[in-house]
Amino acid sequence: MHARTSKAHIAQSCATALLLGAGVLTAAAQGAKPSPRNRAPMVQQAATQPAAVTSDRDWWKNAVIYEIYPRSFQDTNGDGIGDLNGIIRRLDYLRDLGVDAIWLTPIYPSPEVDFGYDIADYRAIDPQYGSLANFDRLVAEAGKRHIRVLMDMVMNHTSDKHPWFVAARSSKDNPYRDWFVWQDAKGFTKDGKPIPPNNWQSLFGHSAWQWDAPTRQFYYHKFYSEQPDVNWHNPAIHAAFADIVKFWLGRGVGGFRFDAITTLYEDPSLADEGTIRDKDGKPVINAYGDVQLDGSKTDNQPGLHEVVNEMRVVSDKFNKSVFPGTRVLIGETYLPNVQELAKMYGTVARPEFHLPMDTQIGMINKLDVASFRAKINDAQTQLHGNPPLLLFDNHDNPRIDVRYGDGVHDTEIARAIATVLFATRGSALFYYGDEIGMKTTPPARKEDVKDPVGIIAWPVFKGRDGERTPMQWNATTNAGFSTAASTWLPVPPTYSTVNVQAQQSDPDSLFAWYQSLIQLKKTNPALARGQQAMLDSQNPKVLSWVRRVSGSPAVIVSANFTAEQQTVSLAAPGSESKVKTLLKTPGAADPATNGSIVLGPFGVYIGEIQP
Ligand code: NOJ
Repeated sequence: MHARTSKAHIAQSCATALLLGAGVLTAAAQGAKPSPRNRAPMVQQAATQPAAVTSDRDWWKNAVIYEIYPRSFQDTNGDGIGDLNGIIRRLDYLRDLGVDAIWLTPIYPSPEVDFGYDIADYRAIDPQYGSLANFDRLVAEAGKRHIRVLMDMVMNHTSDKHPWFVAARSSKDNPYRDWFVWQDAKGFTKDGKPIPPNNWQSLFGHSAWQWDAPTRQFYYHKFYSEQPDVNWHNPAIHAAFADIVKFWLGRGVGGFRFDAITTLYEDPSLADEGTIRDKDGKPVINAYGDVQLDGSKTDNQPGLHEVVNEMRVVSDKFNKSVFPGTRVLIGETYLPNVQELAKMYGTVARPEFHLPMDTQIGMINKLDVASFRAKINDAQTQLHGNPPLLLFDNHDNPRIDVRYGDGVHDTEIARAIATVLFATRGSALFYYGDEIGMKTTPPARKEDVKDPVGIIAWPVFKGRDGERTPMQWNATTNAGFSTAASTWLPVPPTYSTVNVQAQQSDPDSLFAWYQSLIQLKKTNPALARGQQAMLDSQNPKVLSWVRRVSGSPAVIVSANFTAEQQTVSLAAPGSESKVKTLLKTPGAADPATNGSIVLGPFGVYIGEIQP
């Protein structure tokens, strides 16, 4: 699934052993004296919450957020599906990794047509994941570890089994009818088939209009037909969702990720959307065999910003009332450019999202230095000083291996990507399993596909199962995910070598790299709060930047985006400075100065400029 379809388009106590290895995270990064005994403070520091440089109020400006797909994280009742008690069991792991918040994809009661994104009750927990009591315990246990729990808030649509829709479709004059988007047929074919009101399409393929034969009208669904869009032109919807948001804030959640937010409104004119054409003027045909439309009447329409501001006002009221600290609003904001992204922050007078997702950078899907440099600069200069929220992975897109890997240096490439994620200014969001380099593992046979889009578009697009496979904890049965005879999606065969336990005891592992980077992001003042500027800006092969904050040494970062060794100079001849290594690719040499840094294939260097 490419970025457009992804709105549619898109532990162990020895966890710290990895820090024991030489050269990965140096003593200097920890503020410890360089002696063999410096290992003890590292262990202690990683085992508790790293000393954050930001306050509870501002935590979201330099946050590390971890996306959990609950079905696939940890099963504790042996049914082959992850659950809330499983997340509780893994909280120490998440704390040791250094995450500030976990975002859970939907855990509400749902017929699971879209695995939770079709919600039948917004105020309860689906029994397969647990109960509200389990949820309250999760929030409390996470809180003890300084981890906030973020809920997924799906306000574009409900399930067709939600009581609102059941009532709405029961008759044309039901009071709930206007809670959804209904339209008469444009006409009827000769054989009596209703013709949809216009050409609008579902992001999951084919017409976005579903005929409801008993009441003889179409209803609109941007996603599956089992996900009817709610009608945001109706004030009752605003009040209903504000109440739902309050319900979860009252239970102590740390905020929300707002799903499919840019598709809340449709153009009331019902005009047809335009066709996307290729360079020869021919219509582009998408994975479903449909002509690709431009989204001009169903995406990013007027009214959206007002709704986000309403939810922000509701949420901000809770910042002081239950426990201190900002509740964060994150948006799933696939937008065409940085200017539209900037608008999603709102203004000081009318704030909107704290962190609308920056999909401009993470979905470049190619290690192209010039594009990265330009888009990172955009995020630095065009967002009115707001922190960007970077992400490279989620449950809707093939994992990093497919989009950035070369099949040979996937671990090195994953290190370079993680460096961009954690060492540039702003907040970072990553997806369970990224920290160990889990690979995309799509189903081999159509009959095994669970995600309906994979059935609709097979074999052009095999759906999103490949990036939703169970977390690979260890090399035991089912990767330690479940004791069930079979799991809801199969555990990929890679688990015997690619797993948390193996990587925790390997100081050169990807997991070690993630943990070290996160710790630097939290504890190094320049990386936590520093301004950012690109260095060596014409270099087409290596991306380099500097982070600066007053009172602390500047930090330079270089990431080689090629499979060949590169040498960079980050100083004008004659004005080189000594550097102190904070983190570098395993096995690389320490440079003496910023005038000559040697980087192996996809190698990374992070160091402090010495005064
Ligand atoms: C975006 C979610 O990330 C995706 O998984 C879901 O299918 C659609 N929104 C519809 O809710």
